[in-house]
Order: sequence, then C-alpha cells, then structure tokens
Amino acid sequence: MTTSIRPRLDGKVALVTGGSRGIGAATCHALAAHGAAVAVNGRDEAAINAVVESITATGGRAVAAPADVTDPAALASLREAVEGEWGPVEILAAFAGGDGRPTPTAQLLPERWRAVLETDLTSAFLTVHEFLPGMVERREGSIVLMSSTAGRSPSSANAAYAAAKAGVVMFGKHLANEVGRDGVRVNCLAPSAVLNDKMRQAMSAEQLRHLAEAFPLGRLGDAEDVAQAVLYLVSPAASWVTGATLDLTGGRVIA
Ligand SMILES: NC(=O)c1ccc[n+]([C@@H]2O[C@H](COP(=O)([O-])OP(=O)(O)OC[C@H]3O[C@@H](n4cnc5c(N)ncnc54)[C@H](OP(=O)(O)O)[C@@H]3O)[C@@H](O)[C@H]2O)c1
Repeated sequence: MTTSIRPRLDGKVALVTGGSRGIGAATCHALAAHGAAVAVNGRDEAAINAVVESITATGGRAVAAPADVTDPAALASLREAVEGEWGPVEILAAFAGGDGRPTPTAQLLPERWRAVLETDLTSAFLTVHEFLPGMVERREGSIVLMSSTAGRSPSSANAAYAAAKAGVVMFGKHLANEVGRDGVRVNCLAPSAVLNDKMRQAMSAEQLRHLAEAFPLGRLGDAEDVAQAVLYLVSPAASWVTGATLDLTGGRVIA
C-alpha cells in the first residue's frame, strides 16, 4: 500500500482536468480522500460519473464537470457551475491530454501537430486562464501542470507531444514567476511511463515487463505515484515550492 503524506485539504475545492481516467482519476481520489471537494473533468460522461460515484460511495465529495478543455466557452461554463455550487477553486490540476503515440516526424501531419499542441499545451493555458484571475484576486491558489519525460529529453513519443510538454514546463515556470507575489504557486509534474489503459491495450505483458526493467526501481509508474506527488505539491508542506518540475521517473534520472 502506498504511504501518503496525508495533508488535510478539508474545505478546499479542487478541479482536476482529465480526471475521468488514469492519472487524473487517481488524483481525484487522493484529493477527495484528504478532504477536498473535487470537480472531475473529462469528456466521457460515463467515465466521469464512475469516478464521482466511487468517491462519493466512500464518503468523499465529488461532482462531474464535463468539458472539452480546448474550448474556452466550455471552461467558462465549467467554472461557473463548480464555483456556483462549491465556491472558489483553490487547487487546479491541469492534467488533460496524452497523445504521445510515436510517429516519425516526416509522417506527422500538420493537423495532428496542431491537435496535439491544442490538447497537451493550449488546454493548460486555457484552463489556467479561466481560473487564475480569481486565484490572484483572492491571493490563494495552487496549480499543478502536467508535462512528461518526453518534454524533458528526446524520447520515442511524437515531436508535437515533446514540444507541447516542454512548453508546459516553461509555461509553468513563467507563471510561477509572474504570480508568486499574488499568493499563487505553480508547479509541474514530468512522469515517465505510468501504466494506463492505452498502454495495457497497445503492449503485451512481455513488452510491459521489458519496459519496466529499464527503470532502476524495476517497475513502471502507477497513477497513484503521481497522485501522491500532487498531494505534496498542493499541501502546506510545499508552501515554499513554486516553479518546480518534479521528475517522476522511477530512477531514470534526467541528465
Ligand atoms: N501515462 C503516462 O505514462 C504519462 C507520462 C507522462 C505524462 N502523462 C500525462 O498525464 C496526463 C494523463 O495521462 P494518462 O496516462 O492518465 O492518460 P489517459 O488515461 O488517457 O487520460 C487522459 C485524460 O485526459 C482527458 N482529456 C484528454 N483530452 C481532453 C480534452 N480535450 N478535454 C477534457 N479532457 C480531456 C481524458 O478525458 P476523456 O477520456 O473523458 O475525454 C482523460 O481523462 C496527460 O496529460 C499525459 O500526457 C502521462
């Protein structure tokens, strides 16, 4: 069982984009288990509702917040709905995205480049853009962005994903510098391979085992590993941490 640093987040309102599955869903569970009221975002309403139901079934507070986070108008409606029900969002985990499928750059179509930039970089800007004014006004907020090892050094992921996730790192640093004096902290996570449904479908058990062996800790990441890092970054224990990028790599250290 994973050890938790167990911050108390009672009374806090959190939004997790991409909360309907994978890393985002584990983050929703972790935040709710530590007392936060969690708005669960994604586009697949059945998947969102499954996360909400499993949180509420164990006594946690969660609400469905479906929206395509590449759409500013949908984000505005989402904010109005969540803040109208629960009050201001103080914890923002902008995690939606994830199209890192390998494609040689010569075969990467311009439309795909634009789509990946939209989903994996612009979505983070649009999400922050919607919630930042309120955080600055209230002088309270913790934002966690989602990069990837693919945005830290060359990998087998496609070039658009690499560029988008590198962009997320710099966006986070820029923002942290800009709004630190306004009481808002901004940090970024850069995980390596975290087992998710797409990987389970695309790779055989043997391929997954081989991949796991490449990590000094001898296993792939788990969504819960990332959720625990989120708990730290949004907790009072991290009150002097901003502009950081936390590489979650099972020991595959970034040079
Ligand atoms: N797994 C890894 O190895 C790994 C490593 C490094 C970084 N990451 C990053 O971590 C994040 C989560 O990855 P994951 O592995 O948990 O992937 P996942 O299981 O495929 O989940 C992706 C999530 O993003 C949501 N999403 C995608 N586009 C969206 C949009 N336009 N609007 C709203 N929601 C959207 C999906 O919601 P719906 O399905 O409901 O639309 C889903 O909840 C991604 O940003 C990914 O790049 C993952």
